[in-house]
Amino acid sequence: MKTVKYNIIHQNILTWYEEHGRVTLPWRNTNSPYEIYLSEIMLQQTQVKTVLERFYFQFLEKFPTLKDVADVAVDDVLKAWEGLGYYTRARNLHKTAIETKGILPNNAEALEKLSGIGKSTAHAVACFAFDEALPILDANVKRILYRFFAVKSCNDKKLWELAYKLYDKDNTYIYNQTMMDIGSAICTHKNPLCNTCPFESLCQGKENPLLYPEKKKKQKKPIRKRTLVIYHKENRYVLAQNSERLLSGLWAFKQEEDFKVNDYMTELGEFKQHYTHFTLEASVVLLSCEEQENYFTIDEIHDLALSGADRKALALLEMHCQ
Ligand code: ADE
Repeated sequence: MKTVKYNIIHQNILTWYEEHGRVTLPWRNTNSPYEIYLSEIMLQQTQVKTVLERFYFQFLEKFPTLKDVADVAVDDVLKAWEGLGYYTRARNLHKTAIETKGILPNNAEALEKLSGIGKSTAHAVACFAFDEALPILDANVKRILYRFFAVKSCNDKKLWELAYKLYDKDNTYIYNQTMMDIGSAICTHKNPLCNTCPFESLCQGKENPLLYPEKKKKQKKPIRKRTLVIYHKENRYVLAQNSERLLSGLWAFKQEEDFKVNDYMTELGEFKQHYTHFTLEASVVLLSCEEQENYFTIDEIHDLALSGADRKALALLEMHCQ
């Protein structure tokens, strides 16, 4: 049964999307479940602009189908993902490609069982690719719901209930895409533009939207001090494949804690790298060593998938070698 109460808002959303919706986004102009799924995975933790300008088309050119992803080694997928961050996404994409043999299931229940696909992403793919009438619940949608229902704080179970209460079951595709657009352009963190919002007439938080959701006290990020030791033998440098969960699969220079620099080493410089839960403060040194397992020339290193931090270290090494 359709909730008559929200008819006016659903109508406003249809009009708003026609006038302001980002209808030219490539993943809104395809029926390919893979292309839609890829966009949702990339957009989980990365802004639309970055995905559009540097990653989405490039990835699709390399891997035109999900079967193409299944047919390569995970390292090739990581290489194409390089710079996008949150590399677990790339590893899960590869796993999903293999598990599904390149054909995604056509409903949210089955999609949610696959690696790296949570409930909201499963709903987004099922809605955008297979027309399933389900709401989504990403960070932007959560903020809209907190404000619309004037809720200061609640858990995801409650937020899902609110999402189900408010969504338009008859025009779910447009409703969900509009939620993304409103979340990024209107119901923003700092300066929400309530006057132009299609939810405005019934929004319970519009008098003071910044009260919702209640701000949690920000914890200061811890600093992790490390020395990146670039071991080398002549013009070949040692890298190992990371096993740390955060960056696993990426190639990395050796990282040492409490490392004493001495006269046998060359100091190449320092850099900072910000991660979600800590900041890495690294100094980079070059140290000659005996034969080790994985040696690469600088040209070969360019073909490996490296994290942002290791790319910064590589840049320092290249400056030194010039
Ligand atoms: N973020 C996640 N999914 C999106 C979509 N389909 N359009 C715009 N931004 C998004």
